[in-house]
Amino acid sequence: MSQFLVQLGNAATVVEAYLTTVLAKQESEGTPPRLAEAIRHAVLGGGKRFRPFLVLHSAALFGASPEAALPAAAAIECIHCYSLVHDDLPSMDNDELRRGRPTVWKAYDEWTAILVGDALQAFAFELVGAPDTNSDARVRADLVHVLAVASGAVGMVGGQQLDLEAGKLAGQPAPTIASIMRLQAMKTGALIRAACEMGAIVGGGTPDERAALRTYGEHLGAAFQISDDLLDAEGSSAETGKATGKDAAAGKATLIGMLGIKEARSHLDHSIAAAIAALNVFGDKAEPLADAAKLMGRRDS
Ligand code: IPE
Ligand code: IPE
Ligand code: MG
Ligand code: MG
Ligand code: MG
Repeated sequence: MSQFLVQLGNAATVVEAYLTTVLAKQESEGTPPRLAEAIRHAVLGGGKRFRPFLVLHSAALFGASPEAALPAAAAIECIHCYSLVHDDLPSMDNDELRRGRPTVWKAYDEWTAILVGDALQAFAFELVGAPDTNSDARVRADLVHVLAVASGAVGMVGGQQLDLEAGKLAGQPAPTIASIMRLQAMKTGALIRAACEMGAIVGGGTPDERAALRTYGEHLGAAFQISDDLLDAEGSSAETGKATGKDAAAGKATLIGMLGIKEARSHLDHSIAAAIAALNVFGDKAEPLADAAKLMGRRDS
């Protein structure tokens, strides 16, 4: 296994342990048992934990310890898991398999899946807002703000709206390359960019360093969704742990649908190169982040 995949696995292990602990604490404070079980189903035991990796390694650029970055890393993973639980609902992408297991609505029911998403969204802000996670109130407020903007109507939720409109609403204008890139920057890019920026906030980066990580995250987010769309077109459900071959039939607005695989790959390569270029200011210590961008060109899950 490459050194990068070992680092990604290590980040996943620490964030999984942290999430297990904080969810158990919440459970002990009175979460209804069936909701608690469904939340665990949504959050624990699977997933690459790519966004937490970005938080931990962006923070590490400034010498911050994994412990200092874990609340932010776990928070963004909770928003991501909530987005997946809702994305899989029958009224959205109607998927029955996620991370190699039944989706939350399939394992429980739709209303539980909706409530799991709602609870995880609130929990994310509880994690970054709690005074015991960071003694600096300014840092906590910055984390809450960046995560809120990235999650909401001008970020992930807005992107999901555009994604579903393209597939489900009659009379929509034909997608363009620019409209697809905007949709994807919102539904996927916003959280990936926020993960990088949150690392800079935890680490106390300068405004310029924070901007460099935002630029990196923006290009990485674009690459991430193109590679996800390539996995839908070319990958297998056994490897990805979710259904594949669905985007075209569902009328999803993707670069593959508009330009074909080869052109989409060239957009992917361009985004990877732009992401890596944005890291120049950090020198060699940004190698894990550069490797994360390179992975986008050869993902199998
Ligand atoms: C899938 O995200 C959804 C998209 C934003 C494209 P991931 O590929 O990060 O899913 P997990 O967390 O590893 O399951
Ligand atoms: C999902 O995009 C993006 C979010 C969940 C915000 P997709 O619908 O392509 O993700 P998968 O392929 O189901 O993981
Ligand atoms: Mg979707
Ligand atoms: Mg989906
Ligand atoms: Mg997809």
